[in-house]
Amino acid sequence: MCCGLRNLSGKLVAFASYKQLPVDYKLNYLINNLDLNKTPYYLGGAVVDEDYRGNGFQLILLNFRLKQLKLTCPSGFNAWITAHPENIVSIRNIEKAGFKKITDKPIPMYGSVRDVFFI
Ligand SMILES: CC(C)(COP(=O)(O)OP(=O)(O)OC[C@H]1O[C@@H](n2cnc3c(N)ncnc32)[C@H](O)[C@@H]1OP(=O)(O)O)[C@@H](O)C(=O)NCCC(=O)NCCS
Repeated sequence: MCCGLRNLSGKLVAFASYKQLPVDYKLNYLINNLDLNKTPYYLGGAVVDEDYRGNGFQLILLNFRLKQLKLTCPSGFNAWITAHPENIVSIRNIEKAGFKKITDKPIPMYGSVRDVFFI
């Protein structure tokens, strides 16, 4: 699923995705006593149009997706998100949304490395 923000002319200026995961998601091992009754989701990285950055749109889209999951997952949800360790802006927004970093050091992923966050 996707969500985004448009400007008054209808141009898409920010975009983010989220998808349900298999219950045996490959990163589950990172969490002790993971509650398997909760629906697991992965939140994809947001992209904000360069001309619209600095307006808090990434955080708005993070909070929107978490609110959607609260509404649509009656038995609760687990949500994963990743960020490149040097993406300070992104990490700050992810932590503002309530995610906690669960990796001691970045994990090889997507041909690069990622810190992993969980809520
Ligand atoms: C990461 C990203 C989504 C954040 O966008 P955003 O929601 O506009 O970011 P914020 O509004 O939180 O602004 C963050 C910082 O950008 C800087 N900023 C402010 N105005 C800016 C502008 N006009 N242009 C660029 N950066 C600006 C400021 O340092 C601001 O921090 P502040 O809170 O101290 O003012 C965006 O930079 C992006 O699309 N990057 C490329 C894709 C990416 O890395 N996605 C994340 C993958 S996990």
